[in-house]
Amino acid sequence: ERLEYEADAAEKSGYDHYMLKEIHEQPRALRQTISGRIDTDDGTADIDVDLPSEYVDSIEEIQIVACGTSNYAGRYAAELLESIVDVRATVEVASEYEFDGGRDPWRTLVVAVTQSGETADTLSAIRRAKRAGARTLAVTNTLGSTVVRETDDSVFIRAGPEIGVAATKTFASQVATLTLLAVRIGRARGSLSYGRARELLESVRRLPNAVQGVLDREDRVREVAREYADSDAFFFVGRKLGHPVALEGALKLKEISYDHAEGFPAGELKHGPLALVTEETPVLALLTDGSRPDETLNNVKEVEARGAPVIGATTADGDGRATDSAYLDVELPVPATGALEPLVANVYWQLFAYHVADEKGRPIDRPRNLAKSVTVE
Ligand code: AGP
Repeated sequence: ERLEYEADAAEKSGYDHYMLKEIHEQPRALRQTISGRIDTDDGTADIDVDLPSEYVDSIEEIQIVACGTSNYAGRYAAELLESIVDVRATVEVASEYEFDGGRDPWRTLVVAVTQSGETADTLSAIRRAKRAGARTLAVTNTLGSTVVRETDDSVFIRAGPEIGVAATKTFASQVATLTLLAVRIGRARGSLSYGRARELLESVRRLPNAVQGVLDREDRVREVAREYADSDAFFFVGRKLGHPVALEGALKLKEISYDHAEGFPAGELKHGPLALVTEETPVLALLTDGSRPDETLNNVKEVEARGAPVIGATTADGDGRATDSAYLDVELPVPATGALEPLVANVYWQLFAYHVADEKGRPIDRPRNLAKSVTVE
C-alpha cells in the first residue's frame, strides 16, 4: 500500500492533486503548444493544417462547437475572430447544435474544440455538420481520438495528458492554439494587418512567462481563498474576452468546491443578479486589457456599494503595480499580455477554485457526478 501511495505521489510530482500539478504545468504546456508555430517574420502562425488560402478566402462563417471548458475556449476564440481578425464566428454548445450553412455549406468551417476528442455531444455535432456538407476541423489534445478520425483536419494543442477532471492546462493551450489559428486565418484572408498580427503573436509568445508570474503569487491566492471560502455564492464577471473567462472561473469553482458560482458579462449585473449581491457574495472581476476594464469598473462600483467583497484581476504596469485599486478588496496583478490577459487572469481563478475546494476537503481530482470524458449524449 505504501509503495502504491509513493508511486501515486511521484506521478503527482509532490503536488496533493493532479489538478494543482496541471495548473502549475501551464507554462511548460504553453511552450509546447506554441513551439515552432510563431512566424514573426511573416507575421503569421505556422500550424500544420490543410487550409489552402483559396479555401480560407471563401469561408463565410466559422462555427465552433464544444462543451464545458472547451466551449469557453471556443468563445474566447470567436470573440478574437470577430473583434480582431474580422471573420464571422459563432459558438454553440455542442448538444444544442443544428447546422445552418446557407446555400454553400462548404463555405462554413465547423471547428470542434475537445480536449479528449471523445465527447459524445461534440462528435454528434461534427457528424451533423459533415452530413450537411461543411468542412470540419478538430482542435484537440488527443492523437488518434475519434474526433481526429472523423474531421477533415486536426490541430493538436500539445498540452500533455490531463488527469484531473477539471480542465486547466488544456484550456490555456486551447485558447493559445485557437489564437494562432485565428492569426493564420486572418493573415490568409488579408483581414489582419501585419502589425496587429505581430502584436497578437507577441502576446502568445509572452504567455508562458506571464502565467508563471501568476503562479508565483499562489500564496496570496490561497490566503484570499481561505478568507472567502465560506461565502454564500460567488459571482464572476468580465466583458468581451473577459466573459468566457468569467464563465470558466464559475464552472471551475462549482465543479470542484460544490459552491454556487455564476459567471456573466459585467453589464448584466444590474439586469437581475444584483438582487443577490450582499456582503456574503464575493465578486471576482476581470479588469484587464481585452475585458473593457473602465466599463467593468462601473459595475464593480455597484457591487462594492452593496458591500460585496471585490476580487479584481488588473493589468500590472511596468513596475508590477496595478491600477484601479480603490474599489477592490483584493487586487491581483496580471502581467501585460494584451488580448491574452484575460486568459492569464484565468490562472488566478483556477488557483482560487482549487484552494476553496481544498479548504473544504473536496475530492478535487474526482468531483462527484462528473467524468473526465463524457461519452454519452
Ligand atoms: C471542465 O472542467 C469539465 N470537466 C468539462 O466541462 C469538459 O471541459 C467538457 O466535458 C468537454 O470535454 P472535452 O474537451 O474533452 O470535449
